[in-house]
Amino acid sequence: MKGVILAAGKGTRLFPVTYHIPKPLLPLANRLTLEYAFDRLREIEVRDICIVVGENEPQLRSALGDGARFGLSLSYVRQTHPQGLAHAVGFAREFVDDEPFVLYLGDAIYSKGFQDHARRFVESGCANLNLVQWVEDPRRYGVATLDGERIVKLVEKPKNPESNWAMAGLYFFGPQIWEVLPDLQPSARGEYEITDTIQLLIDRGHTVLAGIYDGVWYDSGTLDSFLEVSRFLINNGRIIDPTARVKAEIGDAVVIGAGATVECTRIEDSVILPGARVKIDGEIQHCLLGGTVFSEDPLKDAILYEG
Ligand code: DAU
Repeated sequence: MKGVILAAGKGTRLFPVTYHIPKPLLPLANRLTLEYAFDRLREIEVRDICIVVGENEPQLRSALGDGARFGLSLSYVRQTHPQGLAHAVGFAREFVDDEPFVLYLGDAIYSKGFQDHARRFVESGCANLNLVQWVEDPRRYGVATLDGERIVKLVEKPKNPESNWAMAGLYFFGPQIWEVLPDLQPSARGEYEITDTIQLLIDRGHTVLAGIYDGVWYDSGTLDSFLEVSRFLINNGRIIDPTARVKAEIGDAVVIGAGATVECTRIEDSVILPGARVKIDGEIQHCLLGGTVFSEDPLKDAILYEG
């Protein structure tokens, strides 16, 4: 099975940090975000991977190369303009050819692997299997209506969800996707949605299965979710790179990258990117900071990067 990772988004919810460092390369617990995707894909024997990139192509290519150092073969295709997940997948058509493939959203982090789901996808011979998870508030996700093991209906970010089954950002596809993709119309928000693509598969009588994911799943796209996944990965502890220089009381859930200098009264629940120079008169709390950041006031809930 091949792998496709979507990494062409602009990461606007983490601006200005993602203006300097593309989101797929942001360090989480001092590893690149995409390295977690690589771990999960290697576990299911997926080593031939195409990354769909955008304007971040030069940085991604130079950071990840041909993938050999991750035990993978990486290739890249460029999505001309981000117009939705289904639009992005279309660029991987030639790479995938008619093989089955797993689609991984570049900002997703999963606590445990998908071996059982991959096996079930292959053994069932279905056109598509999607990870779903029961969530409290599904309105910011694709929402699935299930009938037994099948998905029978999908709606992207509904105001009044029919169920609490959120699409969890990992999809296994057979070649049937290429039959329906050309017929896809843009959604009300003007994007080519992966949920609408799967709905087309359902409407045309293909078997679409749900795989209930029982691990912890995060999408690291906002400050809150980025810090939440960071806390999870470091078990609420701290990782201070030995080359960082820190003059501060260090509280829970702190990551300080290589070569950073940090001066403040106290730091908690925050990530300081490698090479940052941070000097704050007061506390740093719930922040993501990079570049040069000086402030005479305490910092709370901030994303800052001064280049
Ligand atoms: O997180 C799970 C959710 O992911 C699903 O429940 C939704 O059904 C699905 O549409 C998706 O929603 P998001 O709004 O979270 O997707 P987002 O725009 O954040 O994009 C996810 C990844 O895909 C991200 O790594 C950037 C990349 N991407 C996104 C777009 C819109 C591209 O490569 N190209 C694109 O055009």
